[in-house]
Amino acid sequence: MKIVLLGYMGSGKTTVGRIVANHLNIKFLDLDAYIEEAERMSVSSIFNEKGEIYFRKKEMEYLSEIFLIENSFVLSLGGGTPCFGTNMELINEKTKNSFYLNIGIPELVTRLMKEKNHRPMISHLQDQELTEFVGKHLFERSFFYNKAHHKIKCNNNSPTEIAEIIINSLV
Ligand code: S3P
Repeated sequence: MKIVLLGYMGSGKTTVGRIVANHLNIKFLDLDAYIEEAERMSVSSIFNEKGEIYFRKKEMEYLSEIFLIENSFVLSLGGGTPCFGTNMELINEKTKNSFYLNIGIPELVTRLMKEKNHRPMISHLQDQELTEFVGKHLFERSFFYNKAHHKIKCNNNSPTEIAEIIINSLV
């Protein structure tokens, strides 16, 4: 069983992923945490010291590694993972259980406003710039997110309810 959760920053991939993994009694993996452990650096430090291109290269390598060495897991991706290289093709080749957690822009902005400082893609933005940025960015990224096998509209659902929807859709 390989379950992959994707979606924009702040869409709840990690929270929901943990619940699904607990429920199914399988391993939970968070790609950002996996990269941080392997590189012994925070994602923010990787961006600051080595640059985004280095991060994207490592992100792709560790994603492939996870599919090679792990059999059964719930994997929460980083918000940008589906949008680079052949990541989305790899994911959909390896599993039919890829899920896009789709959240509307106002809710994403509310969530990200509180925690933008440790997110290198948005930490430089003023609060009033966030809505426009997220709107444009999500529009560009939706093309990739929509390649997921399942799309879940999450706005009014709790993480537990979203986890239930995922568990009931597994193939
Ligand atoms: C990114 C999202 C982050 C992390 C990195 C880049 C992005 O993951 O991978 O900061 O490009 O959207 P989360 O979606 O878990 O915040």
